[in-house]
Amino acid sequence: MDRVFVCSCFGITEQQVKQHAESGACTPRQIASACKAGTDCGSCVRRIQALLGRGAPPRGELVTRPAATADTTRLDEAA
Ligand code: FES
Repeated sequence: MDRVFVCSCFGITEQQVKQHAESGACTPRQIASACKAGTDCGSCVRRIQALLGRGAPPRGELVTRPAATADTTRLDEAA
């Protein structure tokens, strides 16, 4: 049997990460919510990202972007 551990802190295997991904978890954070993988030492987060098929994004892309649509309705109301 092929059992490859991704997260040794919580004993999470590649197979388990893939199952969570198939169930709808598409980010390392969602994987962490599902099975705690990546929430202790964090050394497995890149492997989880790789398993999710996105590779490791540059750090800047991890920052949430602000919504850019806030002012458009106000312009319509003022007219
Ligand atoms: S190996 Fe996954 S949190 Fe430490």
